[in-house]
Formats: sequence, C-alpha cells, structure tokens
Amino acid sequence: MAFLERNMLTNNNQIVLKNIYKNFGNINALKNISMSTNSGKIHCILGDNGAGKSTLVNIVSGVFRADQGKYVVNDDEVSFSNPREAIEAGISTVYQNLAIIPIMNIYRNFFLGNEPIHNNYLNMMDKEFAIDTTKKELRKFDISIDNPKRSAGTLSGGERQILAIARALYFGAKILILDEPTSALGVKESNKVVEQIIQLKNKNINVILVSHNIDQAFMIGDKFFIIKNGELVGEFDKPDTSANKLRTILEK
Ligand SMILES: Nc1ncnc2c1ncn2[C@@H]1O[C@H](COP(=O)(O)OP(=O)(O)O)[C@@H](O)[C@H]1O
Ligand SMILES: [Mg+2]
Repeated sequence: MAFLERNMLTNNNQIVLKNIYKNFGNINALKNISMSTNSGKIHCILGDNGAGKSTLVNIVSGVFRADQGKYVVNDDEVSFSNPREAIEAGISTVYQNLAIIPIMNIYRNFFLGNEPIHNNYLNMMDKEFAIDTTKKELRKFDISIDNPKRSAGTLSGGERQILAIARALYFGAKILILDEPTSALGVKESNKVVEQIIQLKNKNINVILVSHNIDQAFMIGDKFFIIKNGELVGEFDKPDTSANKLRTILEK
C-alpha cells in the first residue's frame, strides 16, 4: 500500500538538478547547472560542441556522478553508480550510434540483455514470445515488421532509432534521454523519428533531447535549455521564444 501511494504521488517522472558541477582535471565541463524536467514534455538541451551537453546527459543517465550538487528524481535524491541503476529507476538513454547491433536479428536486439526465458525449457529464450512482442511493440510506433528474424542491419536508420526507443519504453523507461537521435539520418528518416518522439508526450514520458539542430528542436520541443562553456545561459518555454532567438543566444 505504501508503495502504491508513493507511486501515485510520483507519477510526474520528474528530474531536478540543483547546482551541478563536473570537472575533468582542470576542465570545468559543468558549472552550477540547475534545471527541472517533467513528464509529457520534450526538453531540448542545446549547445555547441564541447558545451557540456553529453556530460550533463551522462550524469542523468548514471555514466558519471556529479562532483557537486543534487540530483533528484521524483522528490528522492539519487546517486547512480552506473547506467543499469538509472535504467532500473526508469531513466533510459538512446545513443546515436550504439543503439542497435546490425548483425543481430531484430527481436534479439529488442530483448538484448533481457531475454525472456521459456517456461518449459530452462535457460532457453522464448523465441515465439520475443518475436510476437517485438512485432507488437514496433507496431505501436508505426513500424510493421514482416519478419523479426531479419538482421537489424536491414532496418532503415530511422527504424533503428525507433526500435531503440520502443525497447526502452517496453522495459519501463519513464524518462527518456535522446542524444542527437536524428543527426545521422536523412530528412525522410529523420521526420519518421521526430513523429514518434512527439508521440512520446501522449505516453507521458519525460523526454530530454540533446540536439544541435535548432530548427528541428524548436519544432518538437516544449522547453529549451541553452548550455555554453558548461553553464546554463538560457531557459525558455516555447511560447516565450523562437528558433531565431535561440540561435542568437547560441551564437552570441
Ligand atoms: N571523459 C572526459 N575526460 C576529459 N574531458 C572531457 C571528458 N568528457 C568531456 N570532456 C570535456 O568536457 C567538455 C564538455 O564536453 P561534452 O559534454 O562532451 O560536450 P558536448 O556534448 O556539448 O559536445 C569538453 O571540453 C570536453 O573536452
Ligand atoms: Mg556530445
């Protein structure tokens, strides 16, 4: 009961960072970053190369610990030792390139590291379940796969990204970090992925999107955080800004 009540109180899937610092030797990669993100919104982290975007995302996803500051998830302060702990807390990251193993088939990619075990045959993967589930879950994201035994390398770039997103959600992600999810894709494939990212809002996911495509980010984002030299130099809700204003601040 206590657990249930707690879950009801905390279904906003909120992340709050307070005064976060991270140094690498004498490089101050993040300086005094404070921000808050919530479910049902797309939060865009914008900044040039070297600004600190990946460092920020790596702290949220459990790759690094902050040197100073507080990291709060649904009102509880957390300190993840590794990404597995973050995933267990419902925080998953989809990386640009590492998402999918091309030579492995589609359903194995979907269940990678979480293989369903057959009831009757100890230690055997329940392939039928894996294949059916993969098909069903991908269909929710507008992807029809005739044969999930195909290698994942036969999927288009956009389909691979969407597979990684579908997989994260199936395994319980409530907070999803997307690091440049469309930067390796052509326009058409990119649009496909964008369409599905927008749908995540209806699924009440807290989306944190790292991008340096300002026009695309502005089109899909609800909230924008601009990072420069490790500092948060601007924070805007969509109605209060424009792609051009964001660009001006970034280029200043
Ligand atoms: N593991 C690391 N070791 C040393 N320096 C790092 C490391 N990761 C990032 N940095 C430095 O921290 C700064 C921010 O990097 P990063 O977060 O990767 O920026 P972005 O993702 O915005 O391009 C850069 O100066 C980068 O060289
Ligand atoms: Mg980066």
